[in-house]
Amino acid sequence: MAWPHKDLLCVSQLSRQDAEEILRAAKSFQEINARPVKKVPILKGKSVILFFAEPSTRTKTSFDVAGKRLSADTFALTKSGSSLVKGESLKDTVLTLQAMKPDAIVMRHQASGAAKFIAERLNCSVINAGDGWHAHPTQALLDAFTLSEHWGNLDGGGLEGRNVCILGDIAHSRVARSNVVLLRLLGAKVRLCAPRTLLPTALAWDVPVYSDLDEAVRGMDAVMCLRLQLERQEAGLLPDLREYSRRYCLTAARMAKANKGALLLHPGPINRGIEIASDVADAKISLILDQVASGVDVRMALLHLYLTRKEAKEERRVAS
Ligand code: NCD
Repeated sequence: MAWPHKDLLCVSQLSRQDAEEILRAAKSFQEINARPVKKVPILKGKSVILFFAEPSTRTKTSFDVAGKRLSADTFALTKSGSSLVKGESLKDTVLTLQAMKPDAIVMRHQASGAAKFIAERLNCSVINAGDGWHAHPTQALLDAFTLSEHWGNLDGGGLEGRNVCILGDIAHSRVARSNVVLLRLLGAKVRLCAPRTLLPTALAWDVPVYSDLDEAVRGMDAVMCLRLQLERQEAGLLPDLREYSRRYCLTAARMAKANKGALLLHPGPINRGIEIASDVADAKISLILDQVASGVDVRMALLHLYLTRKEAKEERRVAS
């Protein structure tokens, strides 16, 4: 199928068929990541700029690894290493980057809507690697891929009818926002668990919300624990960190109340002992490092789909 999208800004842009296409492509790239020599020439001559105005370990590195494994040239720029710190506007910075003719810009930025803002101004593909609290589509896709790997691939039922609880700092989490939409698109049933102060003021989705964690995990096939975003906290939302941990830290005893064989996800980085107990993070049911591995598979799939999109259109034109 010819990929129809120029940019990946949020998961709401994707149809179920699009999302499944990405997960299928990720599966095929997974095989390359298991080889002794993990490199194929399919994006040779393409270039990708990784522009991260916020810190990142997993997302930035895995996009870099993904690009290089497909033989694309990748160039990384951080906020502190860019002229943003000299007062250059975001618009001027990205127009400058575009003048170097990359095929895609992968961007993380602290402002919600930043990815859309630049996508409207650039001809190259823009992939949102996280914008403020708004969206983190590639994280949701890698989470869905990780779960579908454990629950049988898409053709084996995948996420259909599975119960997933998203737990923690929902208000400040772009990961939660993208996951609620994508998990439901793929047929999963989603519930949220958080204290009232860490829920968005207006909930955009019709999903059950729990404030009691023991109740929330009952009947769940997976729990997705979120990092308490200390750097995004506004004064007063969390008067007492110890109280938060007492009520919302995912412990082994709480996880045991979920369905047998229930899986644990966390996008990382984790705050051990705050939102998640150390032994749960390291337990067999924890897919935290599988998520990181899936991140490379999924980002290879995305780079391939978005960077070869025009060629698919041109080929069609030549053939007709
Ligand atoms: C997340 C992010 O930056 O949104 N991390 C990630 O990309 N793996 C989650 C977080 O920082 O809490």
